[in-house]
Amino acid sequence: MAFELNSVVPWGRTFTEYRQMFNLSAGDVTKKIVSIGDGPASFNAEMYAMGKRVTSIDPLYQFSADDIRKRIDETCVEVIGQMRANADKFVWNNIRDVEELQEIRMTAMNHFLQDFNYGCSQQRYINHAMPAKTPFADNAFELGLSSHFLLLYDNLGLKFHTEAIQEIMRICAELRIFPILNLNAATPAFFGELLDALGLNFNIDIQKVDYEFQKGGNQMLIIKRGI
Ligand SMILES: C[S@@+](CC[C@H](N)C(=O)[O-])C[C@H]1O[C@@H](n2cnc3c(N)ncnc32)[C@H](O)[C@@H]1O
Repeated sequence: MAFELNSVVPWGRTFTEYRQMFNLSAGDVTKKIVSIGDGPASFNAEMYAMGKRVTSIDPLYQFSADDIRKRIDETCVEVIGQMRANADKFVWNNIRDVEELQEIRMTAMNHFLQDFNYGCSQQRYINHAMPAKTPFADNAFELGLSSHFLLLYDNLGLKFHTEAIQEIMRICAELRIFPILNLNAATPAFFGELLDALGLNFNIDIQKVDYEFQKGGNQMLIIKRGI
């Protein structure tokens, strides 16, 4: 199915949020990292500004910076309206209120947009839709990250998730997924079955992290090679 820009609601998180969501240590950020479903997050741009390198994968990157900016402008007001209507479903500790959330998200997405063309020329932003085979060699990365993509969109189903994770584990030694919740803040129905399948080939762990915005979303799933 074609990936249509008018079906995307761009919404990007920051380096600080990635560090907390994935419990990234000083050593982790020096690793070769691939971030899947990275969208308009500023993680890649901020890491690059710190002299570190991340490869981001997302079908969003087939569109131009101008088109992505237009889509952000079209959708931002509606997303903020929905956040306001559903404010009780979120934890307002690190982020005080909807106004601060809008400020953080828009700053992150502007940072991404400023970096996007240059990052594409450096192959830091790769247009690719999972679960198709990525253009990377076996073991190309030490760490894979999925923020608010895998598991969140559980409507993509068990087969999609199994295939996407198998492909990511071909190119990465370790994958961290945050949160372990779908869009309704529930555990995906197929989660047990997915862990059973992955457990045949990989080491699986679930860890609590110092980040919770979706209520109950304070755990990451870690999948490692090594069995
Ligand atoms: C909610 S956004 C998360 C963006 C970013 N990771 C963050 O946390 O700020 C989900 C992202 O998943 C991307 N996505 C959707 N389908 C995908 C696929 N098949 N393969 C890779 N990324 C996909 C979307 O384009 C979007 O940018």
